[in-house]
Amino acid sequence: MADQPKYNPLTASTFFDDGRSARPLVVGTVPRGSLAEDNLNVPKDADTFPVPVTRELLARGRERFNIYCSVCHGLLGDGNGMVPRRGFRQPPSYHIDRLREAPVGHFYDVITNSFGAMPDYAAQVPPRDRWAIIAYIRALQFSQHAPLAELPAEDRARLGAGGPR
Ligand code: HEC
Repeated sequence: MADQPKYNPLTASTFFDDGRSARPLVVGTVPRGSLAEDNLNVPKDADTFPVPVTRELLARGRERFNIYCSVCHGLLGDGNGMVPRRGFRQPPSYHIDRLREAPVGHFYDVITNSFGAMPDYAAQVPPRDRWAIIAYIRALQFSQHAPLAELPAEDRARLGAGGPR
């Protein structure tokens, strides 16, 4: 076995005109692992965050949302931003059932590829910031729809027994 007719990797060869056994890379070849952000691009129906949702991520998301999205979607995400008030198409509220139930992949797709009248924000918002914004949108949604049982005891008491669900 140690002594047999074979080519070892990268040894010289007379088979190709350039005298090498290794072939040049095909144009456009991308080495595995070189796209560090590949795993941040998820399918539209994916419903898990590809990054850990931390306090820092949420803070970044709030900042980016307020800069890039609130002008149309409003600081609360209710669709009452300044731009639609001046005549642009009104975005839907994030607090409607359909968008509360929409998977996170849908939000990622809207930011990346645009949606109806809304332009995409792929150039302004890099992938990691898109996830920060989506995490913050989830926090906004929760803020308007938190079940009573998940509130801290003192807030529950303030709402009283007959308060909203
Ligand atoms: C220039 C105004 C504008 C800005 C800025 C904007 N949007 Fe929108 N957005 C819209 C409009 C208008 C729609 C509704 C589009 C339609 O139905 O034609 C929309 C729709 C959406 C929807 C709902 C899609 C659906 O399924 O109905 C999401 C989610 C969304 N935007 C997220 C974002 C995020 C996140 C940002 C910030 C990165 C952002 N938008 C910035 C105008 C805007």
